Amino acid sequence: MKPGCAFLICLAVLIIASNGLLFSQEADKEILARYKAAAVKGGDVKRGEAVFKSKEAACANCHILAGMEKKAGPKLGTIGDKFTQEQLIESVLDPSARLHPDHTTTTVVTTAGKTISGVLHARDKKEIQVFDGEGKVIRISLSDVEIEKPGTTSLMPAGIFKTVKADQFADLIAYLGSLRQKAGTTRWPGMPDEIAMVKKPARLEPLHSEAMKFDHPVCLIASPTSAREYFIVEQKTRKIFRLTKGEGDFSTDKKELFLDLSDEASTGQFEGVLCLAFHPDYKKNRRYYVNFHVRNQGSHFSPIIAERRATADFKKDAGGKSKRLLQIPQDTDLHWGGMLAFGPDGYLYIGAGDAGPQEDPEGHGQDLSVLTGKILRIDVDKTQGDRAYGIPPDNPFRKFDGGKLPSPLANAREEIYAYGLRMPWRFSWDTETGDLWVGDIGQNLFENVRIVRNGENHGWNVFEGFENFSDRFRREGETYIPPVLSYRRKEGVSVTAGYVYRAKKDSSYYGAFLFADFESKRIWAMTQKDRKLGKVRQIGRCPEKPCSFGIDNDGELFVIGYEGTIFRLVLDDSVFE
Ligand code: HEC
Repeated sequence: MKPGCAFLICLAVLIIASNGLLFSQEADKEILARYKAAAVKGGDVKRGEAVFKSKEAACANCHILAGMEKKAGPKLGTIGDKFTQEQLIESVLDPSARLHPDHTTTTVVTTAGKTISGVLHARDKKEIQVFDGEGKVIRISLSDVEIEKPGTTSLMPAGIFKTVKADQFADLIAYLGSLRQKAGTTRWPGMPDEIAMVKKPARLEPLHSEAMKFDHPVCLIASPTSAREYFIVEQKTRKIFRLTKGEGDFSTDKKELFLDLSDEASTGQFEGVLCLAFHPDYKKNRRYYVNFHVRNQGSHFSPIIAERRATADFKKDAGGKSKRLLQIPQDTDLHWGGMLAFGPDGYLYIGAGDAGPQEDPEGHGQDLSVLTGKILRIDVDKTQGDRAYGIPPDNPFRKFDGGKLPSPLANAREEIYAYGLRMPWRFSWDTETGDLWVGDIGQNLFENVRIVRNGENHGWNVFEGFENFSDRFRREGETYIPPVLSYRRKEGVSVTAGYVYRAKKDSSYYGAFLFADFESKRIWAMTQKDRKLGKVRQIGRCPEKPCSFGIDNDGELFVIGYEGTIFRLVLDDSVFE
């Protein structure tokens, strides 16, 4: 709990109520229930705006609605799209119950023994800047930092009932609910105002029994050696399981441990083991690759790309330490990418996020001298100098035979395949056209689906989606590739790319790209031509947060629910129209 919190006095008797609110005593519980009831009844938007701006509520110390100014809390201009009334009530009454992962608290202990907690604002080679509880920026020189660690509570003060009355609270919630993204005139065909639902949605059927549920699964890869076998990566436990489907019902299914990486990988809220990729020649060489986090410099999560090997019978990992190919340095715990997959060209593609903090203030997406904010591509079958991998000959910034590229590209990283990306969490190739489809998680307003080609600049943070974002790192004469689709906050807040459906030629979904949103749980299908949006429809909703898709050897799809269930996506009865 954070200092100054109203509940601090009663730390010993914390009760976590079923609705997720944190109570310390009966009295608080009664007050919170009264506030909640008032807000559910409804309030007045205009009066709520005044509460928001008031000194007593202090919301404006840490929040703005939109614009480039930076504050400790997230921009709230579209919060009515993002949260239901119930979620709004919860997030204001009990800020720590649902933490925005991008605005968590960092705690710094200085060499002089001072403890400073705040939301990370900026970080460079010299100093850390954090927003404190009043929303002011505090600068700490890196040379004064003894310990830096992530906090688990919100900087946003709990105990709003001490300064705001119940009816004012109801007004405030009504105001927040009214803050929605304007539909406006659609200037970009790739940003539809509405996304219609198909008449008959796709079905989601669990792939396994309830008892077999996984612990925060984030990736499913079909086995290269057996048609009935799937590999499932668990983020937090840092284990990989082999799920073998039996004939008939679930009772003959088997779940066996393939790899336990907990001695090498570190885990946090969303960190841990994130992805798995089998070498194209796995059947011969038994080599496979993992993307996992380690704590860098004792404080920050940083992704490692490593090689491992299976036993001769392919049933288990062969043991021993991972062979580390590449580490992607991070100065914050944010936006670390997470994807790993072999492309149709046989090279290993890696998704690297902009590495934070919010809005990419260092311009990593546009900075060719760093690996972050990119899709990287390496050749795992070669080594080059002191590198444990080779650089594919047509990587855009490859320096031939130790030669140099002309300035300003002299420092460009040779591993880069494409740049200007924010958080390419998941991507895949269309098995027919070879198009690389990327789900690039957005900043304040839009989630982006992109088709990415060799050497391209996809615009972040000069653009967010189709819209201008910042001119700070804009370059004269540069071509910025827009997304194919950009969707707004009312549709979702965190895009999860899937696959282009190529299983059944007679299906209306044949050739459509399927994807989802982690928070709204919606699943969509879309088509494109020359990277211009064709059709997009909602085709269903996942019962759990869809964090990834999987694909079997026939091209049928799975949706991975972060709460533990893998679903088969059954498109048979659904028509994409
Ligand atoms: C001291 C700074 C501070 C103050 C004051 C503050 N907030 Fe926040 N707020 C934050 C931070 C930091 C977060 C992100 C962490 C979290 O999710 O709790 C946040 C998150 C939120 C969220 C969730 C946003 C999202 O996208 O997940 C809402 C809604 C919100 N605040 C509303 C308010 C309202 C209404 C007030 C005034 C009553 C207020 N805040 C006062 C710092 C503050």
